[in-house]
Amino acid sequence: MAANKKLLVLPGDGIGPEVMWEVRRIIDWMDRRRMVSFDVSEDLVGGAAIDARGVPITEETLESAKQADAILFGSVGGPKWDKLGFDMRPEIAILSLRKQLDLFANLRPATVLDPLVDASTLKADVVRGLDIMIVRESTGGIYFGEPRGVETLPDGQQRGFDTETYTTSEIERVARVAFELARQRQNRLTSVEKANVMQSGLFWRQVVTALHQREFADVELSHMYADNCAMQLVRNPRQFDVIVTSNIFGDLLSDLASMLTGSLGMLPSATLGAPDATGRRRALYEPIHGSAPDIAGKGLANPLAQILSFAMLLRYSFGMAEDAALIERACTNVLASGLRTADIMATGTARVGTGVMGESILRELDKLAA
Ligand code: IPM
Ligand code: MG
Repeated sequence: MAANKKLLVLPGDGIGPEVMWEVRRIIDWMDRRRMVSFDVSEDLVGGAAIDARGVPITEETLESAKQADAILFGSVGGPKWDKLGFDMRPEIAILSLRKQLDLFANLRPATVLDPLVDASTLKADVVRGLDIMIVRESTGGIYFGEPRGVETLPDGQQRGFDTETYTTSEIERVARVAFELARQRQNRLTSVEKANVMQSGLFWRQVVTALHQREFADVELSHMYADNCAMQLVRNPRQFDVIVTSNIFGDLLSDLASMLTGSLGMLPSATLGAPDATGRRRALYEPIHGSAPDIAGKGLANPLAQILSFAMLLRYSFGMAEDAALIERACTNVLASGLRTADIMATGTARVGTGVMGESILRELDKLAA
């Protein structure tokens, strides 16, 4: 049995805890089979932490995140905490984790599993076999740029402002992750900005072009304006392999891309830091979907994105590609057998809740591992 791996689980708010519970059952299943033993600790983030401790995330939690081998995050936020003011947003939990652990490369895949090809609002012919990887920069840009604020002007009106900023090294390190991923895939990278409007966009394009010539000339690189990219993602999404873009454009385009697949409830993501001397990267894994307060606590949520985020964690942080593939296969098989949560229902399939979906995946794992 491998040495214990330190896993920090942060379920958060809304549907976070209920979908995370299904992952805990898979972890127990792996423990029982002696595949691996995890040191799992769990902590509060987001609204749950605000209620219990008065802040969206404590220093202690950030410290244990720094010590963990990997972090599995649920989702944060909800109407209950909407009125607490800008410094008390539950979202600060995830933003602080990204920033303080320097997790700068947010990998957001958009893949269409065959059994779900009809769940997309786009025609099956357009999305069948879709496999895009969006690499979103996640510690810079307008999310963190200074100056930011609201000021009062001499004429008495107010002015709100934020700053989009990127340095050479911030662009290079995220582009490097994207070029390397492209090499392992179809070797094509699209770099996305607004070089026609923004200084920082033109700069982004120049830095990516120079890096390409220096280190990645074997990868096919193209550049695209962000608005055109949004349009192309809907028109012909399969033209893309890997996309690299800024924090804000990545936020928008990854929501768009995820919906090509039919359900936000399906998609995992990984956010990676720089490799240390041993090649190990700090990493956080989370579903792309939010806390879905409207269905929280009803047992309706789709646990697949959280489970697939855990599979991604096994693959990228713990080098357990086979176990990751086993879990992914179990998910696909359960979908192929016709079980669906409400968000991915189609005619001729059977509707189940969170618990039955989780249970079915465990049974499928039993079968596959027999
Ligand atoms: C995401 C979310 C976050 C973001 C929010 C919750 C701060 O939308 O992970 O895409 O904007 O980055
Ligand atoms: Mg988002």
